Amino acid sequence: MTTLPWYDRIPRTRIYLKLPEILSGLAEVLSGTGMGEAKVAAFEQAFAKMMGVGEAVAQPYARIALHHLVQALSLPAGSEIIMTPITIHDIVNVLLVAGLKPIFVDINPQTYQMDPERLTQAITPKTRAVLVTHLFGLATDMDSIQSICQQHGLVLLEDGSHAYNAAWKGKKLGTFGDAGFFSLSSLKAVSTGYGGMVIAKDAAVLARVRNQSAQLPVVAQGHMGGILIRNLIVNLATHPTLFSWSTFLLVRWISQRSPETIRKWQTDNPNVLRLQEIPTKWLWRFNDVQASLGLACLARVNDWDEKRRANAQILLDHLMPIAQDRLPLLLEGAHNVFWRFPFRAPEGAAFRQFMASRGVDLTTTLLPCCATMPIFADVAQKTPHAERAVREVHFLPVHPTIHPRRIHQQAQIVLAFLKQKAGIYVPS
Ligand SMILES: Cc1ncc(COP(=O)(O)O)c(C=O)c1O
Repeated sequence: MTTLPWYDRIPRTRIYLKLPEILSGLAEVLSGTGMGEAKVAAFEQAFAKMMGVGEAVAQPYARIALHHLVQALSLPAGSEIIMTPITIHDIVNVLLVAGLKPIFVDINPQTYQMDPERLTQAITPKTRAVLVTHLFGLATDMDSIQSICQQHGLVLLEDGSHAYNAAWKGKKLGTFGDAGFFSLSSLKAVSTGYGGMVIAKDAAVLARVRNQSAQLPVVAQGHMGGILIRNLIVNLATHPTLFSWSTFLLVRWISQRSPETIRKWQTDNPNVLRLQEIPTKWLWRFNDVQASLGLACLARVNDWDEKRRANAQILLDHLMPIAQDRLPLLLEGAHNVFWRFPFRAPEGAAFRQFMASRGVDLTTTLLPCCATMPIFADVAQKTPHAERAVREVHFLPVHPTIHPRRIHQQAQIVLAFLKQKAGIYVPS
């Protein structure tokens, strides 16, 4: 029976920043040399080049990118914006603070992406915009979404936070809409500790976004240092050796005693609030430390994407023949980057415990279904597929630094779980 070796267990995720990069960022923060903006333009240009567009504007967060975009696009208060229900709750907060009404449309349960048919059904005379979130780094049919928006004269916004480098028929996700925005927070494939980026079709819109972000204050050194220290801790805690010897044992011990503790700790957060205004703690200017980290990630993003895609393919090859109904439907024409590899496991804690007993730590998505969150009860919608996905979809780790040999073994462990469930004897 396959079990991962005790010295090389698989963590649920790793961050994309390397240890020396975080340490050099910390040194720049401590010395104060990294708090300027000399390198920000180079990072913006490199980002724009990756996306195949002329210009990109760095932002404090993805949510602030959206905040600035909504203002720059002058979407009238009271307008409806149709959106994907699975995302961070603060994206919804930003729209509500701007006086917009989010209308959540359910996802396609097989692709996990916005369903063009449901989108059409949700359009009313008050609809002004559509916000598509490219969940998990998988592509949806952007031809349909784009043509629906054009037909109805709707602004199309794309949240590409999970989907750097993903494409639909050769065109990068994030470039189909009037504007695209991206998160650069720690777990993303392009990370700057925290941060965001905006691209837009109309140079005047982008100029307004740039103007708004230029007025933000410089981040406090202590704040930037704190973010890097958190990145350092996550980097160390998920380092293959340290993870196998310490973090994994702790996580497994907790999940065996109380299977939902870690998930609840991450999702039932008392800081999840309905906001009346944009908190000032989100409003910082992008700095050189972030730009250096982002440039380092951009230099390897293609290579790491290909490694992650190859890892995902190994899982697909092993699992497709017997577990197709648990795997995402991958559309022809899509170039998927698998920021996360979704695998349906309604067995929940039993699946996680089985995987952990053989050396694989994994989790469900920690993003909520915003359509049913109590804080958004006044704009609630029934989105059963999204609710089910949030409960059932687990992420099989495919981080580019995980050796393909371990991914093969991970697939064998998933197959063993499925066999055991089907009543076939699996030696422990
Ligand atoms: C889909 C999606 N959009 C937006 C965000 C928000 O990013 P930020 O923290 O940069 O505002 C996240 C963060 O995880 C996300 O997953």
